[in-house]
Amino acid sequence: MDANGSDAIGRAVEALRCARAVVAITGAGMSAESGVPTFRGSGGLWRTFRPEDLATPRAFARDPALVWEWYLWRRGRIAAARPNAGHVALAQMERRFAAFTLLTQNVDGLHLDAGSRNLVELHGNIWRARCTEEPRRVFDQRGDTPGEELPRCPCGALLRPDVVWFGEPLDPVALDRAAAAVRACDVLLVIGTSAVVYPVASLPSLARHGQALVVEINVDETPLTSEADIVVRGPSGAILPQLERLL
Ligand code: OAD
Repeated sequence: MDANGSDAIGRAVEALRCARAVVAITGAGMSAESGVPTFRGSGGLWRTFRPEDLATPRAFARDPALVWEWYLWRRGRIAAARPNAGHVALAQMERRFAAFTLLTQNVDGLHLDAGSRNLVELHGNIWRARCTEEPRRVFDQRGDTPGEELPRCPCGALLRPDVVWFGEPLDPVALDRAAAAVRACDVLLVIGTSAVVYPVASLPSLARHGQALVVEINVDETPLTSEADIVVRGPSGAILPQLERLL
């Protein structure tokens, strides 16, 4: 088998052609070609920043200004980014299948911008903030100009980024929806994720128990590689449009 080239792509296409229900899981590598930094690997955010200082409830309680500063800096990077050809290909693929669910760990909103609709943003969305006292109060801050003061809810409590931090559970409704889609799928595409952050990292084994075929698309090897049925080695911005064209 040629994991790098046309054989792997050909087998993935064949599997997708027979599939009724497809799920795609995406990670930071999906947006790398849009200029959004990944977390691990060379140039990854966790090479320069410590997650425990910036992406935990404790970090926010200790220094909300520092955490907001970091999220506003990331918003700036993301504001300059556009969906890449991989995002567009996934949005097009959605229309080809009776059931297609896109599960993303990315908070950048680029899948929505590309037109994906049956989407679950499992780690939240960086453009939203929510009240620290009443989490159901959620605010869309895209287009807002940050002021001098920390953002506050009309009730007076601090707002926080509406994203999942380390040590926090995922939204149980979103996670149930994700698990149900994965259990029922025929093909699971796992794209641009280091596959080390749980609970999302446990979804591929759930798919395999349900007899789905697991296809990994990544520029590098991950802990999932040895368990994947098909490994397509390459950048998602090039591989996904190729897959979509061949369907
Ligand atoms: P990572 O940064 O851990 O992994 C990115 C993956 O993308 C790596 O396996 C790279 O090899 C791969 N990659 C890079 N460029 C690529 C490209 N052009 N095409 C395909 N693959 C590429 O990002 P995630 O797996 O998303 O959570 O990380 C998961 C979670 O950990 C994030 O949601 C974030 C992070 O800490 C929180 O902040 C809670």
